Amino acid sequence: MGRNAARVLIIYYSFSAQTAGLIHRLSAGLAEAGVTVREERLMPRTPLKFPIGTISATLAMMLITFLRGRIPIQPLSDLCRARYDLLILAGPTWSYNPSGPVLSLLDRDGRRLFAGQQVVPLISCRGYWRMHWWTLSWQLARCGARVVNRMIFAHPSREPWRTIGVFLKLAGRVPEKGRFLGRYYPRYGHAREQLEEAHQYGRRLGLALAEGRSLADLDLGGKVPG
Ligand SMILES: Cc1cc2nc3c(=O)[nH]c(=O)nc-3n(C[C@H](O)[C@H](O)[C@H](O)COP(=O)(O)O)c2cc1C
Repeated sequence: MGRNAARVLIIYYSFSAQTAGLIHRLSAGLAEAGVTVREERLMPRTPLKFPIGTISATLAMMLITFLRGRIPIQPLSDLCRARYDLLILAGPTWSYNPSGPVLSLLDRDGRRLFAGQQVVPLISCRGYWRMHWWTLSWQLARCGARVVNRMIFAHPSREPWRTIGVFLKLAGRVPEKGRFLGRYYPRYGHAREQLEEAHQYGRRLGLALAEGRSLADLDLGGKVPG
């Protein structure tokens, strides 16, 4: 290759390993397309435990996150000081909002990280991502970012089982093994095919970056039904 490889930084938070799984495959796809990929995982100052463990603590966390409670995070590593051709900001939806660690990142480091940068957010959610998307894209724009595309992954299980299943999983139960619920809710989180999609999106992004094409026209599955 004649010119330097494109550089991508993936900044992400993951509470129950769903975003982390998607990022793992996305990153592999980018690397296969010749991109230099770096990953920065946001770490809460006080580690959060998954599952939350009880129904009352889960309800409390949902209320706090609905009110956009921030979760303070540790300082970023030096990876975040370098220049990149693309930043990917990834994390789960928490009560219709970006997660607490991502909100803290935007408050504390948003301008320095994102001003003048092209950014593609990735959302991992049970199913309701629109408000998260509006808040996130608005906050990124306020930091001076150019949000050029998006990747949205919703859990594939059907409602109402999906909502019940996620809630019970957070509360420390094992709904996928329940005699009744297990029939309708076979697993928590994303499906294997979605991990494969993430891999494909990584390749698409990587090839477009290598060829200097716009990322705005790429099909990254962002138009999923809510
Ligand atoms: C406190 C809390 C609130 C949540 N609220 C929503 C929500 O409003 N909408 C939604 O689609 N998913 C919601 N979820 C589900 C997560 O977005 C989903 O499980 C996601 O895949 C988790 O990603 P992670 O494992 O990377 O943290 C919530 C999860 C938690 C922990």
